[in-house]
Amino acid sequence: MTLAAPFPYFGGKRRAAARIWQALGDPAGYVEPFAGSAAVLLARPAFTGRRVETLNDADGWLVNTWRAIQLSPAEVARHAWGPVAEIDYHARLAWLQKRRTPDLVAWLEGDPEAHDAKAAGWWLYVMACGIGDPFGPGPWRVVEGHLRKLPHLANAGQGVNRELPHLGDAGKGQLESYMGQLADRLRRVRITCGSWERVVKPSVTRSGTGGDGTRAIFLDPPYATSGDLYAHVDADVGLAVREWCATAPRELRVILCGYDTEHDALLAHGWTVTEGKAGRGAGYSTNGLNGRRERLWLSPACIGSQQRSLLEVLSA
Ligand SMILES: C[S@@+](CC[C@H](N)C(=O)[O-])C[C@H]1O[C@@H](n2cnc3c(N)ncnc32)[C@H](O)[C@@H]1O
Repeated sequence: MTLAAPFPYFGGKRRAAARIWQALGDPAGYVEPFAGSAAVLLARPAFTGRRVETLNDADGWLVNTWRAIQLSPAEVARHAWGPVAEIDYHARLAWLQKRRTPDLVAWLEGDPEAHDAKAAGWWLYVMACGIGDPFGPGPWRVVEGHLRKLPHLANAGQGVNRELPHLGDAGKGQLESYMGQLADRLRRVRITCGSWERVVKPSVTRSGTGGDGTRAIFLDPPYATSGDLYAHVDADVGLAVREWCATAPRELRVILCGYDTEHDALLAHGWTVTEGKAGRGAGYSTNGLNGRRERLWLSPACIGSQQRSLLEVLSA
């Protein structure tokens, strides 16, 4: 069963997921180093038997949420549920911001079961009320337990007035059942917190013999144009990822997301490029046209990649 992501997210790749799985097939080992809302993992076609799957992100509260949904889904639902009220939104956002310290990532890194269900529920509530990532460096400051700047309340389409197809309109029972379904899907998924390089190593990508026996990595780093959309911002991460891709083991099925010609340097290494269609409806693109700029770069081992290269060569 494929599932929708439990929170809206800038750059979510739900609409591109079918294309992505066409190219990745049914890998025995699958890694998403920039998980975000995990829209691609959740859209993976159903399989039977064992696969090794890993979700990773550098954002501590985001990873805590995935872990808590996996291990304590009913508790997360209990804390996430509630009518949208500005005062609760502020209070929960302030509580979370205050606790976003380097210790948070260290805690999640150091114990694969570490999670805080209340924080996860509140994080989901805040994500459903706000737009994209309300935690980014942006205008937020916590001063004596309160946020200094209001969200965009006057601006229809942003802030707590926004109607989201996520948590806001789910009844409590529905929410619990949805969290339970997510927990079932995540039961065997390894969920890690840290920088992407750590999970593209052979020790992580190595896998059993399930599915078609291959190994796949879906790379969706923040784009060069993302600015401060995400709580965790790393300058030049896209460039570092592209450099890693250029020398990645040939047998790996790797997909890298980006805009326009951002990663065309990979074409010289036998990669191909295709439209990503991940814009409108997939996440929260601030510009509807951005979806048309989305591209997926496919490594030579991806399904269909070689044929397209050959066709391109012949028609050139
Ligand atoms: C474009 S979003 C991923 C969207 C995701 N594919 C989805 O469908 O929702 C990029 C993600 O990369 C994370 N990130 C930024 N720098 C990172 C790093 N150095 N290592 C791991 N994750 C990072 C951000 O926290 C953000 O969640």
